[in-house]
Amino acid sequence: MADELPWWASTVIYQVYPRSFADSNGDGIGDLPGIIDHLDHLVDLGVETLWVSPFFASPQRDVGYDVSDYRDVAPEYGTIDDAQRLIDEAHAKGLKVMFDLVLNHTSDEHPWFVESRSSRDNPKADWYVWADGYRDRNGKPKPPNNWRSELQLPRAWQWGEERQQWYLATFLSFQPDLNWRNTEVRVEMFDMVRMWLGRGVDGFRLDIFGSIMHDEALRDNDPKPAFINGMPRVQTPSRTMNTPENFAVAADLRAVCDEFEGDDRVLIGEVFGPPAVLRRYIEDQGRPGLHLVFLFEFLSSPYSASRYRRLIERFEREFPAPLVPTYVVENHDRARSLSRVGGDLAKARVLATLLCTLRGVPVLYMGQEIGMENTYIPLAEANDPIPSVVAKRLPEWVNRRLPERLNRDEVRTPMHWTGEDGAGFTDPGVRTWLPIHPDHVTRNVAAERDDPTSLLAWYRQLLALRKATPALRSGTLDLATDVPTEVIRFERTLDGTTVAVVANLGAEPVTVPVSNAVLGARMAEVLLVSDPAATVDGHLVNLPPNSAAVVELR
Ligand code: NOJ
Repeated sequence: MADELPWWASTVIYQVYPRSFADSNGDGIGDLPGIIDHLDHLVDLGVETLWVSPFFASPQRDVGYDVSDYRDVAPEYGTIDDAQRLIDEAHAKGLKVMFDLVLNHTSDEHPWFVESRSSRDNPKADWYVWADGYRDRNGKPKPPNNWRSELQLPRAWQWGEERQQWYLATFLSFQPDLNWRNTEVRVEMFDMVRMWLGRGVDGFRLDIFGSIMHDEALRDNDPKPAFINGMPRVQTPSRTMNTPENFAVAADLRAVCDEFEGDDRVLIGEVFGPPAVLRRYIEDQGRPGLHLVFLFEFLSSPYSASRYRRLIERFEREFPAPLVPTYVVENHDRARSLSRVGGDLAKARVLATLLCTLRGVPVLYMGQEIGMENTYIPLAEANDPIPSVVAKRLPEWVNRRLPERLNRDEVRTPMHWTGEDGAGFTDPGVRTWLPIHPDHVTRNVAAERDDPTSLLAWYRQLLALRKATPALRSGTLDLATDVPTEVIRFERTLDGTTVAVVANLGAEPVTVPVSNAVLGARMAEVLLVSDPAATVDGHLVNLPPNSAAVVELR
């Protein structure tokens, strides 16, 4: 039987950070024509959906996550025609395309905000979240409540001198929150979504989507500290995140997507919280919402078989079919996965195996496939706005417990296409917007394409196998619990075909049965091994440290 899931339920997503993917005009900044020129890399790798981080008009204080015109392209990235060409050429190569929508906030340079902040009675006065707050004994303005920013800065409110009022900025001070209770805002934003859908885009990644609707009465957040997805928080965002009205926005946005023929435009939400809460973005009160949500726990988890087993078990329990979990080990906000595992390529191969064979949608970040690592850039030199504001102003206990104190520039440096000066990202001699990692000389697409033992070759094999094996794309997943501590083993089954994946994340070799079922005369045939020393002997798999095998049970 063919794989009958909708396209998005079994796709493989590849995130491109446009500023760093490919520079077509030699200005040291990646651009849309650069992405178009490299679409064949995606096809060759075997990913199926391209997600492009924001390239809309923006002052770029948060590298495009601060939009000043949702309907236009930032000039350094190209033109609206380039965006159209990107959609069309990706489609011509069989790729789906998702853009990145920042619905929660705009840039403070967006003309809407410039107008909104200018007075209390202009036509856009209510387009953002304004509040009076109160005055303390000395007449000093104080914010209306205890809400902290998403980064846990002391307050989510910024003072607007002209209006003598506070505006909400859930993320950074220059990213004012739109007021989604205002009908005009909704109409304008949904129309903008329709404009891009009309141009053929297949869906959207939704930035900071859990924070769109806040408590209307502006009641305080619960002051209790919390951990969400491994991140420490000074207070529990009970009134600012994952509120019931937020789930309703998901459903409204879905309705906009479903206006388009085929019902196949897709929404994937950047939302944080326990899987049971995140499920409500997919369906709430009988209304369908987002198709997928990021499940970020893998990203925060140390490399550990027992931790990963627990996560897989949890994702399966809380996102049972037809719900679709997502797996992500890297993105533009967090440390590179290879750096997190100490640069150990064997471990990176194990991670790649899990990512590409678990039930759900894998999301890769550009450069992950060639083993790009963090590029050290001192915090003091950061272009990323976060280090300068955050580190200084967080309570020490939060600082200490952050999984990493990262200058996000370190994971956003230019892609390595070749070993030449400029890394094939730009022309030799050009000064790039962020430095190029010195290891591009050996670790790059061109070199790895010709090396059958490279990480790139391993990803290509895994993704080709996934594409050719319906059981891996859409089969059930059965996770073994009675395995040695360092082992992960699961079986994917569809229509009588079973593929077993066995991984050893420990420092010692192990020998484990390929299945717990009584296999009798059935044969275990090796499909792929991440290490040539891994072997199958009858119904036993021998795995060296940090290796994995994919085996078909016939
Ligand atoms: C999440 C994005 O991934 C991050 O890069 C950005 O800084 C914030 N949202 C704010 O939009």
